[in-house]
Amino acid sequence: MIVMIDSANLEEIKYLFNYFPYDGVTTNPSILKKENRNPFEQLKDIKNIIPKDTMLHCQVLSKNADEMVKEAEYIVEKFGKDTYIKVPVTEEGLKAINILSKKGINTTATAIYTAMQGYMAAKAGAKFVAPYVNRLDNLGYDGVQVAKDIHTLLKNHNFNCKVVAASFKNSQQILELGKFGIEAITASFDVLRNLYIHPVTDKAVNDFCNDFEKIEDNHKTMLDY
Ligand code: G3P
Repeated sequence: MIVMIDSANLEEIKYLFNYFPYDGVTTNPSILKKENRNPFEQLKDIKNIIPKDTMLHCQVLSKNADEMVKEAEYIVEKFGKDTYIKVPVTEEGLKAINILSKKGINTTATAIYTAMQGYMAAKAGAKFVAPYVNRLDNLGYDGVQVAKDIHTLLKNHNFNCKVVAASFKNSQQILELGKFGIEAITASFDVLRNLYIHPVTDKAVNDFCNDFEKIEDNHKTMLDY
């Protein structure tokens, strides 16, 4: 499963990459706003700190298809052809996704709340489609099920497009999707760290060290032998 960081915070991104080779960074206007800085400079810095072959997903702000296309072309010119242009699935967005896919520009269809939105975006040529799992749960729908339904639709219809499930509150939502074969997720700093941090693992490590200290002097490691 492709695992990406849903953040524009340089410290968070650096911290996470220090411990694990994440596959990419996804941003949106709200995430960029949190950094309280020129968003373009922020994106440039993100691009500079992430490993070379790592994806950067960056969203357009225009609401009109032609403007979205111009924005997308500008972003690709500045950040490279491997950049994924996030386009919300509105009517204009679908049109833009279709134009961009014909121009060979990678798109990530975003702000997806229904399975059919995901299907239509894939059919328009998106490379990724991003259902908002936790936001759906908050609305009283089953976000995990919507993401699964989109995955099934894409497989059954042989689209060259992956679900990148987004908007998570906890590990359980990601686990459910991983078991189902969802190909990509993006999550915030805290949600990503909670995928592997476990207090009982830390306790086990402390117990091992305490046991070893009973037979040896303090803080020895295998390097001391
Ligand atoms: O990538 C989509 C995401 O940023 C939405 O997440 O946590 O704001 O619901 P959230």
